[in-house]
Amino acid sequence: MKAFYHRVTNGKQVDSYEEIDEIKVCQDEVKVNLYSAGLNHRDLFVLGRQKEGDQPLIIGSDGAGVIEEVGSNVKNFKVGDEVIINPSLRWKKKSDGAPEGFEILGGNHTGTLAQKIVISAENVEVKPAYLSWEEAGVFSLSALTAYRALVTKGNIQPNETVFLPGIGSGTITFALLFAKALGNRVVVSSRSAEKLEMAKKLGADVTIDTNTDWQEKLQDEKIDIVIESIGQATFNKSLGLLRNGGRLVIFGGTSGYNLNINLFDLFINQITVLGTTMGSQDEFREMLKFVSEKEVRPVIDRIFAITESTEALNHLDDAKQFGKIGIKIED
Ligand SMILES: NC(=O)c1ccc[n+]([C@@H]2O[C@H](COP(=O)([O-])OP(=O)(O)OC[C@H]3O[C@@H](n4cnc5c(N)ncnc54)[C@H](OP(=O)(O)O)[C@@H]3O)[C@@H](O)[C@H]2O)c1
Repeated sequence: MKAFYHRVTNGKQVDSYEEIDEIKVCQDEVKVNLYSAGLNHRDLFVLGRQKEGDQPLIIGSDGAGVIEEVGSNVKNFKVGDEVIINPSLRWKKKSDGAPEGFEILGGNHTGTLAQKIVISAENVEVKPAYLSWEEAGVFSLSALTAYRALVTKGNIQPNETVFLPGIGSGTITFALLFAKALGNRVVVSSRSAEKLEMAKKLGADVTIDTNTDWQEKLQDEKIDIVIESIGQATFNKSLGLLRNGGRLVIFGGTSGYNLNINLFDLFINQITVLGTTMGSQDEFREMLKFVSEKEVRPVIDRIFAITESTEALNHLDDAKQFGKIGIKIED
């Protein structure tokens, strides 16, 4: 099998698509012949942490394909089943936080930028039939994160308004699709007028430039929930926008993690701040049921061939995309 490999050699990141040995399937595992995969900002963070002398990495948390081999203990799947990968490792039951041992696929565990993956049978689910291979390949990590942020942690209620800063993000695009499928009012921001136009077409009710004064622009809106992932550049503006008693759900900080917060504003306005990360197997299944009922399709910015993964990662790093970046995997 071939895989997209990353090494740091002489201080430089070196990528190559090369032949590697196939991994043996253990009794609780399945081998999936991958047809498609997707990129997430996390892939850039994982690569950024790699050092000279570290083991070569196969990144990638999203993927979909067909089961090629099953371990002797696996009863719920068979060879030929079409599946989608759940990248949330060792987190089965819905809980306030992730359990000990939780990990995301595509770091320590070999990822999806490869022709095949061997993974616990607990981490595959039947691919929703309405999704194409390309759509199923970009779904997992960001859709699960958006679902838990909005539904489990955010506990979004009918008639509530949600604000989504940075609509260009793959995860935030899913949050827009989910909130609209739930019937909520949605306000989005972006630094790009073009992305705001696209968000409108997807159902965003109000769109604003990220670099404007949000309180002034949105003085007629009552914002119940903000889903934050930009961090340093927008966190305080997000806090300032919430109604008294509102909720801020946060799962990332693309622009940086360190900032000063005015604690007076936080408590006097009785704001609840909720941290979240990915989600459990329970939530992955709930999310798949929800999207299948509503036929929610991901927004795909562009599909690259697996041999063009370096260009795909550069495209992600440039933050020019709207929605997800897909990877087509061929023999
Ligand atoms: N904890 C978890 O489980 C989890 C899961 C998924 C993602 N995340 C995190 O969530 C974040 C988003 O990831 P992603 O892959 O969905 O998104 P992404 O494709 O990397 O997009 C990030 C978006 O953030 C906005 N942005 C970035 N820097 C900005 C700045 N300096 N000022 C204003 N806006 C800025 C941009 O929106 P515009 O282009 O619209 O301006 C950009 O498109 C990342 O930090 C990621 O690590 C965490």
